[in-house]
Amino acid sequence: MSLLQLDDLRVSYRAENGLVHAVNGVSLTLDAGQKIGIVGESGSGKSTLAMAIPNLLPGSGQSEVAGNIWFDGKNLAELDEAAMRRRRGRDIAVVFQDPLASLNPVLTIGEQVAEAIRAHRSVSWPAAKQEAAHWLAEVGLADARNALRRYPHELSGGMRQRVMIAAAIALAPRLVIADEPTTALDLTTQAQVLDLLERLVEQHGAALILITHDFGVIGEMVDEVMVMYAGEVVDRAPTAELFARQRHPYTRALMHAMPSEARLGDDLDTLPGAPPDMSNPPEACAFAPRCDRRTGRCERTKPLLHEVSADGHMVACHHPYGGATP
Ligand SMILES: Nc1ncnc2c1ncn2[C@@H]1O[C@H](COP(=O)(O)OP(=O)(O)OP(=O)(O)O)[C@@H](O)[C@H]1O
Ligand code: SF4
Ligand SMILES: [Mg+2]
Repeated sequence: MSLLQLDDLRVSYRAENGLVHAVNGVSLTLDAGQKIGIVGESGSGKSTLAMAIPNLLPGSGQSEVAGNIWFDGKNLAELDEAAMRRRRGRDIAVVFQDPLASLNPVLTIGEQVAEAIRAHRSVSWPAAKQEAAHWLAEVGLADARNALRRYPHELSGGMRQRVMIAAAIALAPRLVIADEPTTALDLTTQAQVLDLLERLVEQHGAALILITHDFGVIGEMVDEVMVMYAGEVVDRAPTAELFARQRHPYTRALMHAMPSEARLGDDLDTLPGAPPDMSNPPEACAFAPRCDRRTGRCERTKPLLHEVSADGHMVACHHPYGGATP
């Protein structure tokens, strides 16, 4: 049984002029220890997909989820909020781009990490604090004892990200979801935080879902890549295969939009044209208006994800590169 299985996941947001269809039928399985990256332009639904798993989407009718989210044999879509909160943190750790938003401004760093530990394990307050100091030192917060007494706003972005990772490591999660965890950091700190993230995953054999704009990070961190476009997975391949052969026109364009040197933190939103309006998603290939391989078929029929090579490369495209010329 896979650790995580998404079946035809769909997420819409309720906006002023109707529904925004942010994720449109994503299926995925992830095993323990497997590391998968998600790439795609801004607005392609990466964060929405990732946040649907631990149920961190806006509530009170602002978002609607359909499909199933199986985690360790349980359907998360059916868990109530209290049961979900227990799983979040203990089994599923989430690391965001801006850790300030997920840290409590009125608790010291030591209290936050200790609280996170005590929320999921029955240990005394002094023991939790001692453990927090240990993990903060482990993630390289120099002088962890002193850091324990500081508040989130007194730390740099890189230090705050280390605090989030320390809290996650302490709980030995089985799935780590990291949504652009290094985008706001300087280059040196980015590399250090990625190392820590790798350690967090390796230490407990956790699975990783890593969202990034950066193919350099993908190449270093994950075994497999999913490329999203307009709320769908249009390309999925083992990382080495994707780097060797870009079969989907969108993936190829996305990679070519990158500078020749894979520099950490570069934004990829430089493709000509714009993604479709997701309040009214196209019925055929969503990439067709921007694709120089499109034919009449692309404008009439939606291409489904299918295998195009024995290396496990799958694309949703009628005319992938390496296949018959359109
Ligand atoms: N709270 C919300 N209410 C309404 N629409 C939303 C909300 N959050 C996201 N969206 C819309 O859903 C779509 C997917 O957004 P999402 O944030 O998942 O994209 P993303 O791939 O993570 O983009 P980025 O790379 O910019 O983080 C976009 O069209 C976005 O405008
Ligand atoms: S289905 Fe057609 S339009 Fe869509 S990406 Fe493939 S070739 Fe381009
Ligand atoms: Mg996002």
